[in-house]
Amino acid sequence: MEEPDPLRSVLKILKDCKHVTFLTGAGISKESGIPTFRDKDGYWSKYDPMKLASPQGFLENPALVWEWYRHRLKIISSARPNQAHEAIKEMEKYFNITVITQNIDNLHIEAGSTCVLELHGNIFRSRCTQCDSKFDTSLLKEKIPRCPKCGGIIRPDVVWFGEMLNEDLLKRCYEVLTITDAIFVIGTSNQVYPAAGFPLLVKQHGGKIIEINLNNTPLSPIADVFLQGKATLWMKAILEKLKEWKNSMSLS
Ligand code: OAD
Ligand code: ZN
Repeated sequence: MEEPDPLRSVLKILKDCKHVTFLTGAGISKESGIPTFRDKDGYWSKYDPMKLASPQGFLENPALVWEWYRHRLKIISSARPNQAHEAIKEMEKYFNITVITQNIDNLHIEAGSTCVLELHGNIFRSRCTQCDSKFDTSLLKEKIPRCPKCGGIIRPDVVWFGEMLNEDLLKRCYEVLTITDAIFVIGTSNQVYPAAGFPLLVKQHGGKIIEINLNNTPLSPIADVFLQGKATLWMKAILEKLKEWKNSMSLS
């Protein structure tokens, strides 16, 4: 029997969709030159996440954590959105789109996506651990930056292991997920919760799951379509098919 064409399966799903959600992880920004975490060459193959991305690690050695975030800020500052980020933005022409991202690199916003929910914060923003004042990370030059208002230590405004996600933000995510007709899960290893549970929630509410990843993940067995390969290639192909379909509709 002939293998079904996965692109056709995606189009078939999208034809009935109004609300489309994208859940993205580090893999979508890999082709913009930003390292991932759990791949062979990812951060967690070299560094201990508890030392660099946990409140305990920050308490023990804030200078080390800051050194790592400055290093990442440098890489991220010179990165540009790639064709996958751009395709997601373009799909706003056809659907109500929400982007839920675990990335802190700002690239969905730079690509112009209108509704971006940043689950794990944003590296360009920092905050005082005492008075919660917010700062532009790129302007903080001290090894361990201090708050000019209260003297408290400033930290990157990101979510670390063991920390709670912002409640209002989570509420907005759940509201969107329950009305999502299809969720694209792109470039995430689906190992970090609560994000890893989001696609299941969509499925429970009758929506479809389309996964794009270089490799299988724990989500793959329950995905309605699994597209193996680079995020840019698949997103470009999907957008092209979508345009063809919409053009043929406007002609008929
Ligand atoms: P991971 O590094 O765990 O997973 C990246 C995924 O992207 C892997 O499944 C890769 O196979 C896939 N991938 C790599 N390049 C790709 C490409 N060009 N196209 C498509 N897929 C590709 O990253 P996340 O799942 O985002 O949190 O990690 C989740 C959270 O864990 C992060 O937000 C971060 C991390 O620790 C904190 O630091 C708190
Ligand atoms: Zn302060």
